Amino acid sequence: MSLRLAVFASGSGTNLQALIDHLEDDAAEVALVISDRPDIGALERARRHGIVSRVIPVSGRPEDDVTADTLAALEDARIEMVALAGYLRRIPVGVVERFHGRMLNIHPALLPAFGGKGLYGMRVHRAVLEAGSRISGATVHLVDEEYDRGPILAQWPVPVLSSDTPEDLAARVLRVEHGLYPAAVEAVAGALAEGRPALAVADALRFEGSLYQETFPLSIE
Ligand code: GRF
Repeated sequence: MSLRLAVFASGSGTNLQALIDHLEDDAAEVALVISDRPDIGALERARRHGIVSRVIPVSGRPEDDVTADTLAALEDARIEMVALAGYLRRIPVGVVERFHGRMLNIHPALLPAFGGKGLYGMRVHRAVLEAGSRISGATVHLVDEEYDRGPILAQWPVPVLSSDTPEDLAARVLRVEHGLYPAAVEAVAGALAEGRPALAVADALRFEGSLYQETFPLSIE
């Protein structure tokens, strides 16, 4: 039986799409999509796949109300695990506590570098380019009370090229995200179903140099 997964999104939802596409009949299924705003791509994707969605506004509302609405939506849908996928709001502490060890996030850089408050979306890629970093990547981590600081479950590197615009880098990192996130979610769901902690899968999700070479061959001239 697959674990019931809720995906939180605020934008176009390409990671949500990757989860929908790669989790079918697997350890986890996307059973609910939660967004803080209407009219976003992620909600349209949910609709197309017949997945229940809920818009829970956050802006200008007391945290207690957002917590209560969110927990009620998760409970109604009998959600067992949460994946944040481009959700731009801080998750209320009450929700983080309720899903301790069962809530994942994907970040478009190699944490702990280029993470934290204010570093989201294209700002992350701009910061990487401004720092002159030659490498970036994607990180899947458990969510705790602080931005981008929970234990790391999986990472995958991508090269940064001198000619990159933030958009070029974002596109290269997204390709990796779309492979890494479903793999991580599936592995964690499998562990949780067996009563093992999410972190038990971190070694199995380790970076395999050979695959990296196939995807992004290293050439030094
Ligand atoms: C991704 O780069 C993700 O890492 C970040 O926000 C972006 C969301 O993209 N947290 P999408 O909405 O999944 O297309």
